[in-house]
Amino acid sequence: MKIVVIGGTGLIGSKLVSKLREHGHEAVAASPNSGVNTLTGEGLAEVMKGASVVVDVSNSPSWEDAAVLNFFETSTRNLLTYEAAAGVKHHVALSVVGTDRLSESGYFRAKIAQEKLIKASTIPHSIVRATQFFEFLKGLADISLVGDKVHLPPVLFQPMAADDVATGVGRIAVGLPVNGTVEIGGPEQFRVDELVRRRLAALKDLREVIADPNARYSGAKLSERTLVPGDDARLGETRFETWLTQPAAQIPSGPQPKAVAVENKEKESQRKAS
Ligand SMILES: NC(=O)c1ccc[n+]([C@@H]2O[C@H](COP(=O)([O-])OP(=O)(O)OC[C@H]3O[C@@H](n4cnc5c(N)ncnc54)[C@H](OP(=O)(O)O)[C@@H]3O)[C@@H](O)[C@H]2O)c1
Repeated sequence: MKIVVIGGTGLIGSKLVSKLREHGHEAVAASPNSGVNTLTGEGLAEVMKGASVVVDVSNSPSWEDAAVLNFFETSTRNLLTYEAAAGVKHHVALSVVGTDRLSESGYFRAKIAQEKLIKASTIPHSIVRATQFFEFLKGLADISLVGDKVHLPPVLFQPMAADDVATGVGRIAVGLPVNGTVEIGGPEQFRVDELVRRRLAALKDLREVIADPNARYSGAKLSERTLVPGDDARLGETRFETWLTQPAAQIPSGPQPKAVAVENKEKESQRKAS
């Protein structure tokens, strides 16, 4: 089966492409680096020729409110239009557990818009909502900095290894469209502040993590279970302590998106001024 993976060079995309190929599928990694740009439409008609499934695991390079909304709306519209023309039978997209509960966040308003376009389209679809990735824990610290301290709310979450995300998305991609949403999550629950503290300690990152009930996640206020998946979620196998011993855990995740860094600097200067 020909499966096009949009964002196939990213964290999840590259793992997904390998797994699909191991299972004998013709998986094509599509991203601007390979001449496929979902914002402009460049390369989409070509890459979708003969494809049965398109999996969208792309992400916006900027998380600034307007930019991220434009990314997910324009990309998704373009993908669905080109898929319809190419006769693609299944559109799979990776979203985030709790997206509908996070509309205070510009990033999540963009994910809500992405999901809405998919649900309204005529292409059979599956939306896979995953919990936070273990690989994102350092990035979560980076976007939660106030001054030199990391402020995070001590609420529950159930993060998972990127490898298990790719496995979960892969299983859905080769199955029949669910025409709805499937949740995937990790095997254990933690408090957000506690696990980020453990992750930074493992990286010998000296930043202090403060349990701050008023701290926001990507701009949204969280309650105890906002980030926790429902009882029907399919759970990955990798436990956090096991993941920490794997090569993937030795690499700190990439730089934070520029817009968030700027926003945090602004928050800090407002804090100092008040
Ligand atoms: N972080 C989390 O904890 C979490 C949890 C649940 C779900 N998710 C979702 O998971 C998805 C993937 O995240 P990720 O961390 O794997 O992303 P990532 O590593 O940042 O990769 C992003 C991918 O998108 C591609 N891309 C960027 N602009 C593009 C464009 N105009 N056209 C086509 N492709 C483009 C990039 O291509 P280049 O390499 O060429 O730039 C790259 O392959 C996101 O949608 C996110 O919402 C994240």
